[in-house]
Amino acid sequence: MTSAEPRYRVDALIAEDIDAYLAIHQSKSMLRFITCGSVDDGKSTLIGRLLYDSKMIFEDQLASLEADSKRSGSQGQEIDFALLVDGLAAEREQGITIDVAYRFFATEKRKFIVADTPGHEQYTRNMVTGASTADLAVILIDARKGVLTQTRRHSFLAHLIGIRHVVLAVNKMDLVDYDRARFDAIVADYRAFASEIGIAAFTAIPLSGLRGDNIAQRTAAMPWHDGPTLIEHLETVEVEAEADCARPFRLPVQWVNRPNLDFRGFAGMIAGGTVKPGDAVRVLPSGRTTQVARIVTMDGDLDEGVSGQSVTLCLADEVDCSRGDVIATADAPPQVADQFQATIVWMAEDALQPGRAYWLKLGSQTSSATVQPPKYAIDVNTMAQLSAKMLELNDIGVAEVYTDRGLVFEPYADNHDLGGFILIDKATNATVAAGMIDFALRRSQNVHWQAIEISREAHAAQKNQQPKLLWFTGLSGSGKSTIANLVEKKLHALGKHSFLLDGDNIRHGLNKDLGFTDTDRIENIRRVGEVAKLMTDAGLIVLTAFISPFRAEREMVRKMLPDGEFVEIFVDTPLAVAEARDVKGLYKKARAGNLKNFTGIDSPYEPPAAPAIRIDTTVTSPDDAAESIVDYLASHS
Ligand code: ADX
Repeated sequence: MTSAEPRYRVDALIAEDIDAYLAIHQSKSMLRFITCGSVDDGKSTLIGRLLYDSKMIFEDQLASLEADSKRSGSQGQEIDFALLVDGLAAEREQGITIDVAYRFFATEKRKFIVADTPGHEQYTRNMVTGASTADLAVILIDARKGVLTQTRRHSFLAHLIGIRHVVLAVNKMDLVDYDRARFDAIVADYRAFASEIGIAAFTAIPLSGLRGDNIAQRTAAMPWHDGPTLIEHLETVEVEAEADCARPFRLPVQWVNRPNLDFRGFAGMIAGGTVKPGDAVRVLPSGRTTQVARIVTMDGDLDEGVSGQSVTLCLADEVDCSRGDVIATADAPPQVADQFQATIVWMAEDALQPGRAYWLKLGSQTSSATVQPPKYAIDVNTMAQLSAKMLELNDIGVAEVYTDRGLVFEPYADNHDLGGFILIDKATNATVAAGMIDFALRRSQNVHWQAIEISREAHAAQKNQQPKLLWFTGLSGSGKSTIANLVEKKLHALGKHSFLLDGDNIRHGLNKDLGFTDTDRIENIRRVGEVAKLMTDAGLIVLTAFISPFRAEREMVRKMLPDGEFVEIFVDTPLAVAEARDVKGLYKKARAGNLKNFTGIDSPYEPPAAPAIRIDTTVTSPDDAAESIVDYLASHS
């Protein structure tokens, strides 16, 4: 055992002169790193050992550890190592579903923040969160087990996320008798995999978290190791802040600071490069150019702002600039695009639905976005490209992403802040994926919106009516088409200009390439929504009769139209009733197993939560239903 005596005590300076203590720490560089590995490979022990062996510790952490230590009867500031590890593990357990635990410690040379993430596969999400701000990844391996799937998956993720330094920590060496051959074999095994995924270099260290071998102190047990200890390596590895400063200047605007009419500043954190007063800058996406007038901070104006700093920029001219815009070097601005190819890590239980609208957040920009069916998924063991129709929990794939508006971006390889995004489920607000932009698809840049002079208002006025979209939804055989057809006859008789789009008919023409998988149904509704929107632009009252089983897509169509134009009509026929009627004989086929993905049987139907009109077909005749819909229209136009 190399560190026999507990050395876990606070720097005396904290008590004597807190300012001096903080000053020393402030001048130290900071390394952010992440530990990854499988369950039971000794992560908590390793982190405990790092905290225990580092000579200084931040006050709050110490206080809670001391309290634990007193409770268990230990003396003074000497904290028991086993107790420390237990404490960390317990905290880890409690925090497991929340997020990543960030732990702080410091040595004489450097400050550290370590993102402690759980090893279970379902927590890939936490690993991605922790890795997104890390300079270095410690990939932990149990010397008895060697390189595992999880090792590969985490290494690949770390590399994908752009972590520049990798440490291969071969732990539990004490349990393999400090066997050099075993260590060398693991390193060789890992090297083969690492070079395949593009990790050019890594530092391998044989160690024992439990016994403290090669953590802070070299061990006599492994004289053959001539590399650094883990702490030595963490203290000396180069941090990348300097590299970030060498890139062109970018400031994603978080908020506009306008306390009075004389001051207007744009606040955010510099995401690459440096900036000085007088520099020529360009505001994106608008492209307007101006100069930097001042760089304002809480501590006064700066002569230069550098990557990673939070600043408020004042500009020389009154240019339009708001939250989500990016202020950049005028002669090397980032791009603006609304179609990208991206690498996506899916992190939710519910699989990716290609074509569904998600919120996409890229820095301070937010847009609605859809993901196309993946080009391929990546097998993290072999790096093979697998064909994939969707992405499920923990899948990594490459797909095209379309956003509703142009986003200011850079490829992730060039700038993590402007190339990394997350996807959020619109219904649950859960983060479902992390993405990295590979490149923009050029085709969108060559298609421009053409201004048309006869407006939708002019079309509607000529027909002397208010355009509407009467959206019928309900199970197959619920009576959507029957009622929609009757409504259209009545409207026609009243001299209204209308058009009925019916599921079965559209599926013979425009949508004949689509089947009944979730993905195809989403695309079916997207196309019908777009066609219906064009028809309302032409001034028509449009009726649609589609099962349209998913709430998300019905909401998507609602948002495509002006407020109040989309009228959701729920044709509420219970499954048992629709099945008993079985007009087309399809329920029988589905029950017999001859028709897959049938709505209500083995494919879901999500009823509207608050439809404008609900028709209970068990008590209302089709004609009465149609009459009530026409009445509704008369009173809502
Ligand atoms: S939707 O789900 O994509 O909105 P849509 O309304 O276009 O469906 O088509 C539904 C019609 O297709 C049904 O009324 C039925 O006649 C026919 N159909 C054939 N196979 C299926 C299936 N697996 N599930 C539902 N309807 C099906």
